[in-house]
Amino acid sequence: MSENSKHSKPLVGVIMGSHSDWSVMENCAKQLKDLGVPFEAKVISAHRTPELLQRWVTASTENGMEVIIAAAGGAAHLAGVTAAITSVPVLGVPMKAWSTEGMDSLLSMVQMPGGVPVGTLAVGKPGAKNAALLATAILGNKYPEYKKAYEGFRAQQTADGEAKQDLPSV
Ligand code: RP5
Repeated sequence: MSENSKHSKPLVGVIMGSHSDWSVMENCAKQLKDLGVPFEAKVISAHRTPELLQRWVTASTENGMEVIIAAAGGAAHLAGVTAAITSVPVLGVPMKAWSTEGMDSLLSMVQMPGGVPVGTLAVGKPGAKNAALLATAILGNKYPEYKKAYEGFRAQQTADGEAKQDLPSV
């Protein structure tokens, strides 16, 4: 699937190891869509489809992709392998998989040996949303429209918070 704004090519790639990750990662896609960032989302596994991963990363970055968001659970090596293939920034989102509430995924992703960085976000939905926001902030350093979109999101969030400071009386 893909979404486009005035840029015709996806600037952000969102990959995940399994279709089972989509219910969480659609929050990332929705946030990118809301911010008007052109992206492409796909299921690509580092261990089930390693050659596809190599081909997709190479072709996508040659085609102008500037940030890759990679989500995986368990022995969550997708983001690390992706970062090994490319020099574009890779943001990792650990998924809750089948054990330890996502701690396995978090530690697999965050413990990259020094030299090949993955910017690891929080486990699950907050990480999915923040990966989209962080990708937009990164693009904002180059594209004024994405800087404006990100700053607009933050300003609205602040305004909403200030409007909701009161608590129910006891
Ligand atoms: C990882 O294993 C995926 O990223 C997913 O989070 C987890 C479980 O995958 P399925 O068994 O649901 O395909 O590769």
